[in-house]
Amino acid sequence: MPKWLKDAVFYEIYPQSFYDTNGDGIGDFNGIIEKLDYIKSLGCNALWINPCYDSPFKDAGYDVRDYKKVAPRYGTNSDLYRLFGEAHRRGMHVLLDLVPGHTSEEHAWFLESQKAGKNEYSNRYVWTNVAFQPAKGFPYIGGESERDGVYLLNFFKCQPALNYGFQRCEEDWQLPPDHPDCIATREAMKDVMRFWLDHGCDGFRVDMAGSLVKNDDEKKTGTSALWKNVREMLDEEYPEAAMVSEWNEPMAAINQGGFHMDFFLNGKDNGYTTLLRDYESGEDNSFFRKDGKGDITRFLEEYVPRYMATKENGYYCLLTCNHDTMRPKYNLDDTELKIAYAFLFTMPGVPYLYYGDEIGMRYLDIPTKEGGYARTGSRTPMQWNDGKNAGFSTCPADALYLPVDTAADAPNVAAQEADADSLLNTVRTLLSLRHEQEDLQADAEFEVLYAESGKLPFVYRRGDLLLTLNPSAERVSAPVAVTGKEKKLLFSIGSGEINSGEITLEPQSFLVWK
Ligand code: NOJ
Repeated sequence: MPKWLKDAVFYEIYPQSFYDTNGDGIGDFNGIIEKLDYIKSLGCNALWINPCYDSPFKDAGYDVRDYKKVAPRYGTNSDLYRLFGEAHRRGMHVLLDLVPGHTSEEHAWFLESQKAGKNEYSNRYVWTNVAFQPAKGFPYIGGESERDGVYLLNFFKCQPALNYGFQRCEEDWQLPPDHPDCIATREAMKDVMRFWLDHGCDGFRVDMAGSLVKNDDEKKTGTSALWKNVREMLDEEYPEAAMVSEWNEPMAAINQGGFHMDFFLNGKDNGYTTLLRDYESGEDNSFFRKDGKGDITRFLEEYVPRYMATKENGYYCLLTCNHDTMRPKYNLDDTELKIAYAFLFTMPGVPYLYYGDEIGMRYLDIPTKEGGYARTGSRTPMQWNDGKNAGFSTCPADALYLPVDTAADAPNVAAQEADADSLLNTVRTLLSLRHEQEDLQADAEFEVLYAESGKLPFVYRRGDLLLTLNPSAERVSAPVAVTGKEKKLLFSIGSGEINSGEITLEPQSFLVWK
């Protein structure tokens, strides 16, 4: 386990929209370098950068055309190497986004693979052997290749599935994971990883990490064995490199696959979604809404068993949002967000902050861009100040990658820096508390002390610290087995007190006691 993860806090950057230094309307590596001090000032000491490789951008870069070359629109490979160096100089780490499940249909491997004549790449992707038959339950494309067969997709039409084999082979075109050509795909992905690690990258966020071996069993035996093999390579060659999976099955990802971290991701009605985004039914029951209709036990039911089962091996991680999800500002105001972030940043595992969530950037209702569809509204340019294009770019507004939020009250960094009570400054205080208190970091103990269905507050322990949380507009109380005198207040939003075994919390409050 890379030691630096214990006190890591990640900042996710969608490079298109972070900071444009050459006035072409899209963010770039130099922009990220210029803003490293800002990111560090928040208390984030690690970055996850969404795919920044050469790509036709039909899925915002998750359709990689060349794994070893950056997209010219962000700069050059040397600029990215310089970014690694500048981050390291500041004690920061950088994860790139590894997309191992599929490439772009324009990738050189795929262009070879679709040829009629057998070659080294024929089995790099999953092909059937007759163009006129469907691929038995898998999404596929037929009729476009010289080769007689159809190929499997991993996501959009532009993303043919790389071939890591089938755990259960049911058709003659399905190869087992230990077939030399499937092993060759895995080794090719390791080669990509080594390339970036050798140039100073500190690890990877892994896209759709659970999708590699097809027809896998319920325990994900095939895919996790593949990742375990990758972990062995890392332990031997790059022991400080970190891997986080987009999987949301920590038992498979962490315990079996050897990932250091796995995300608790948004999913229909799942435990994470009930915290911040429980509005699909038309009624908003999100736990952090001040109307107090949420129920923390819905989160804990899923989180606690997974946390308990994986805590010795890795970190099950919480995020404010990501590039696929509605911004939390969509349904929560700044006070609600402060309490939500206080929770997210004091839980076990490694927290992830999505760029712009520190100022409460809004979700914008805008047309799709680069395969974003509904996700596009969470990918708009960072709002740095109230100047032209919110300080993101000097280009004409119609040349922007995506429109900036032009509302009169659109939040921005400069204004919030000047306001001691802003969301941005609350994030800073919370993250500096986390860095100061080992008990708030990734691996310190976590225990639920009070969580009742339909009731508040929520009370939990991290190491020797007591954390008490009331997102609602009502005063609430609960029994706790401590007296106020033993406890000193370390941090507070709102107020509350502990008296003869009972904790009382004022509306919308979050308190940390030692
Ligand atoms: C998950 C990524 O987060 C998403 O943005 C992308 O579209 C798909 N995987 C396909 O790579």
